[in-house]
Amino acid sequence: MKYIIPYLFVALLIVSCKTIKETTETQHNTISKTVDTREIQGGMWIPSLLEGVNEVEMQQLGSKMTAKDIYDVNNSSLKDAIVHFNGGCTSEIISPNGLLLTNHHCGYGAIQSHSSVEHDYLQNGFWAMSYDQELANPGMTVTFIKRIDDVTAEVFAGVTSDLDEASKLKKINQNILKVVKSANKETWQDANVKAMYKGNQYMLFITEEYKDIRLVGAPPTSIGKFGSDTDNWMWPRHTGDFSMFRIYADANNRPAEYSKENVPYKPNHYLPISLDGVEENDFTLVFGFPGTTNEYLPAVGIDQTVNVLNPAKIEVRENALKIVDGFMRSDAEIKIKYASKYASIANYWKKWIGENQGIEKSKAIEKKRALEAEFSKIVKEKDLVGYSTLLSDFENLYKEIESVSLARDYWIEVAYRNVELLGITFRGYQLEQAFLRGGEEAFNSARTTILSRLNGTFKNYSAKVDKPVFAKLASLYAEKAPSDYVPLNMKNVNFNELANRIYSRSKLTSLESATELLAGSATEVIEKLNNDEAYKFGKELHTIFYNKIEPKFQQLNMQLEAVQKKYMKGLMEVFPNKRFFPDANSTLRVTYGQVKGYEPKDGVYFNTTTYLEGVMEKYIPGDYEFDVPQKLQELYKNKDYGQYAENGKIPVCFIGTNHTTGGNSGSPAIDAEGNLIGLNFDRVWEGTMSDMNYDPDICRNIMVDVRYVLFIVDKYAGAKNLIKEMTLVHPKKNK
Ligand code: ARG
Ligand code: GLU
Repeated sequence: MKYIIPYLFVALLIVSCKTIKETTETQHNTISKTVDTREIQGGMWIPSLLEGVNEVEMQQLGSKMTAKDIYDVNNSSLKDAIVHFNGGCTSEIISPNGLLLTNHHCGYGAIQSHSSVEHDYLQNGFWAMSYDQELANPGMTVTFIKRIDDVTAEVFAGVTSDLDEASKLKKINQNILKVVKSANKETWQDANVKAMYKGNQYMLFITEEYKDIRLVGAPPTSIGKFGSDTDNWMWPRHTGDFSMFRIYADANNRPAEYSKENVPYKPNHYLPISLDGVEENDFTLVFGFPGTTNEYLPAVGIDQTVNVLNPAKIEVRENALKIVDGFMRSDAEIKIKYASKYASIANYWKKWIGENQGIEKSKAIEKKRALEAEFSKIVKEKDLVGYSTLLSDFENLYKEIESVSLARDYWIEVAYRNVELLGITFRGYQLEQAFLRGGEEAFNSARTTILSRLNGTFKNYSAKVDKPVFAKLASLYAEKAPSDYVPLNMKNVNFNELANRIYSRSKLTSLESATELLAGSATEVIEKLNNDEAYKFGKELHTIFYNKIEPKFQQLNMQLEAVQKKYMKGLMEVFPNKRFFPDANSTLRVTYGQVKGYEPKDGVYFNTTTYLEGVMEKYIPGDYEFDVPQKLQELYKNKDYGQYAENGKIPVCFIGTNHTTGGNSGSPAIDAEGNLIGLNFDRVWEGTMSDMNYDPDICRNIMVDVRYVLFIVDKYAGAKNLIKEMTLVHPKKNK
């Protein structure tokens, strides 16, 4: 997963999330007596609050675990084996020596950074056969959650209804600081507070961050990324999307910077691994760090996303991808340089298309409208105060925010994200702003940051590719972004000529000339920048963004969030028997469901499991997406499967009804007894709309079967040392 939020306005976003409400209650659900298992799936639950409803639901789905087996502060529990991986993904501990399992696409950057022409670990895979062969990754971190406390009462202390919104917000933020400061924790631990249920509940997280994380193993891309973009977000799937790392600690088992003296971390818990596999309807639990969901949007909000914002973003990316793909196909060097960027542009491009289809297929907007009608009816009947104007407030605010949201998305997609030269001018813009606000000193520190970023950017940059992308995307912006937000220098322009001029004259198209431009005193650099053709063009766009788009968006969005917060509270009050989970916010969550196939369209049923046979069916010799390593073909031919086969076949991936999202990559899939059975890495296409509307009929998460992981480690890579340190179990056979 990747979140792209330009860091200058991150601060604004964080503040705007926290609007205020005086009272709050922890959510408890009631359960109907007759169990429709469809009704008790979906949701991403806070691990410390599973007792009661969630525990009962899990057992109804077949779990043998108690809430305390999953989360316990006083004894070891599943949660001690789950770690946030480098801020974006999830990973889990699978041995008493701190061995970590996560996705190949989560370890990709690290694997790439150790690769060279002589040692191409992306191409050939990498396996450490002993501790001393493991590779350090400076800057990489993993985070444990030690404790989760409800601090809502402390956060709302003194936040009285007579205060205006700004004063409430101020008070809340002061209280949060107080809670963090006085949190009961060890010196090497951290504390932070996160808003749940749109700011109706606050939770304190005590965390421990480890900083010496070493690469242990990765299959070749032809296994770890098999099917690449063609198969991405799709079922049936045949990707062995895994890699392995190890946590190192100091002599006291505590976090430490990288050191040769560090030793493998000793966990409070690690996951035993089941060799017995799963079958349809088996219980599954996915434990991890989901990033963002928007499950309580009103119908107008979904409508706007699906019919206005997604189509615009899809069109921009489609155009960028087409151009980049053309170059990648005809130029081997460009193919390598753009592979990772292409994959990341393509990832959400494809997701949004699937999301739109799923929203339509599941009639999500109609269903939300019906729910809202019901909500209004009950509010009226019961004469509930404070909720009667919410839906019309939403209507008005969404109408008002539409054009500025659209402009904002165009700016992000065109001026920040996909035209690389415009992204570079944005860094220049930040530099100029730093100087205007903080003088020479701020300028110098911003320049250091920017130079190091440019170093990274230019490693994989080609102006030859970027120029036509600029011409196409800038003209799309000019034509399609709301005209109030289109700068004058983009009106009535021949973008091909403009591209020729800018790319032939700008100094910002190569590292050498950009570094030269950025050398000198602050005033010299600012003057040179403002004479640069690309900068002059980009500056107009960035100025519109900062002066017109962002302030208006933030102001309206703040109001929307205040309404959304009241609506969340209202929904929980009006429908006391419905299940409500707090939207994902990159905190640790539990989601549960069952292994299940699904019917993507009339007459088609997708099975739960794929096998090595399917890898061979997809095999295209020499293809960059569907090649299969020789060794794997031999193992297949000889049926050399060791203890990892099921009825003579090697399972590769399976699907379930677990409600997951970006950030759940690398999350463990756990069986009814707490054993590892799989590794989450994706969702099915029609089901990506679960970020706004989870539907148990078509939403499925995709997991690598852990037996495929073990088969590759053992039989393909011969890394028996790793198998030896794991605990392999037979929970089904031993019954
Ligand atoms: N769709 C998965 C996720 O959202 C996997 C992404 C891996 N990248 C790719 N282009 N195949 O992150
Ligand atoms: N591939 C996603 C990730 O990197 C997880 C799939 C999803 O969005 O569900 O987090």
